[in-house]
Amino acid sequence: MTIASHEGLAGVIAGHSAICTVEAAGNDLFYRGYPIAALASQAEFEEVAYLLIHEVLPDRTSLSDYRDKLQQRRGLPPPMQEILERLPAESHPMDVLRTACSVLGCLEPESEDHSAREIADRLLACFPSMLLYWYHYHTHGQRIETRSGETTLAGHFLHLLHGKPPDPLQRQALDAALILYAEHEFNASTYAARITTSTLADIYSAITSAIGTLRGPLHGGANEAAMGLIARYTDAEAAEAGILSALAEKQLIMGFGHRVYRHGDPRSPIIKEWSQRLAEASDERHLYAISERIEAVMQREKRLFPNLDFYSATTFHYCGIPWQLFTPLFVIARTSGWAAHIIEQRADNKLIRPLAHYDGPAPRRYLPIESR
Ligand code: COA
Repeated sequence: MTIASHEGLAGVIAGHSAICTVEAAGNDLFYRGYPIAALASQAEFEEVAYLLIHEVLPDRTSLSDYRDKLQQRRGLPPPMQEILERLPAESHPMDVLRTACSVLGCLEPESEDHSAREIADRLLACFPSMLLYWYHYHTHGQRIETRSGETTLAGHFLHLLHGKPPDPLQRQALDAALILYAEHEFNASTYAARITTSTLADIYSAITSAIGTLRGPLHGGANEAAMGLIARYTDAEAAEAGILSALAEKQLIMGFGHRVYRHGDPRSPIIKEWSQRLAEASDERHLYAISERIEAVMQREKRLFPNLDFYSATTFHYCGIPWQLFTPLFVIARTSGWAAHIIEQRADNKLIRPLAHYDGPAPRRYLPIESR
């Protein structure tokens, strides 16, 4: 049998999906047919999550009911709080979320009465609670109340993090970022979730697989890594020199390039504008100037463009979010997209089990241990 080999499955169409497409030209993005620019500028995250998980855009009443529903599901059961307290303070927050997702699967397992859609909404509502309960307990020695009067997930996250009502500009910026991060076709973590789902495993197992896959710096971890890069420089000149020498050493510059987009990431100009607006209200404007210079150098030297993760880094930083919470925010947003794919995979399931092109030793005789 002749087997075509596609390293990293690049360019391979691995299944059907009606959830999201990057346009044929490879530089635009649609969620269930709606363009990302319109969603990011005119919708709110809850509306987009509803669209992804419940398959239609909500009307005013459905959106208001959905917000109420998510708000009511923010509480954490006591065993979850206890486990979060016992995790090491030095854990990476991505490990905390991965573990917490798995724990919730033991406490509130999927069943006929507790469907995948219900669980998706529950996870969306309580991921910020899990993350920030663990964060405040280990950083400030406080057991926080994980419910807030905030009606949006973005506002709730910032309220829990900072312990006060959010700055409106920061809330809007985070809301837009959550929309941009919500869904992205067959990316690595979504595909991991679909593989797990294809074995008929439960939704918690699929989302736990996805969180583990998102953690790496070639995928979700790039936003935290990009912030580390930007903050390394004191000004744009130093950034230019630093990037040139990193490129000369063939280092990867985090937050640049993309497997699918070839001309530009359509989400990047949107998040860049938010970063700029927040920079203008901040006393750390130099970070934005450094980012712009890095973008210019990467364009000039490598013809590479920033992906969503690059300007998300400063956007989140300007919202006062600790760097290690950047990728967990990606998890919170992408839970809506993962859930949509899990539900879609189940509707027309086929076990995902590809072949490998074998390049190991030819068949050989086994010698029992006493004869070796
Ligand atoms: N910095 C420097 N060079 C980069 C680069 C980056 N961020 N991204 C790609 N390149 C270079 C590669 O080194 C390669 O050069 P070569 O042909 O001389 O070997 C070329 O561009 C093609 O890259 P390749 O790794 O084959 O593309 P890919 O489709 O496999 O990888 C990414 C896509 C996203 C994994 C890759 O661009 C990357 O590692 N980016 C940084 C991490 C990141 O931002 N991830 C978030 C993605 S949303």
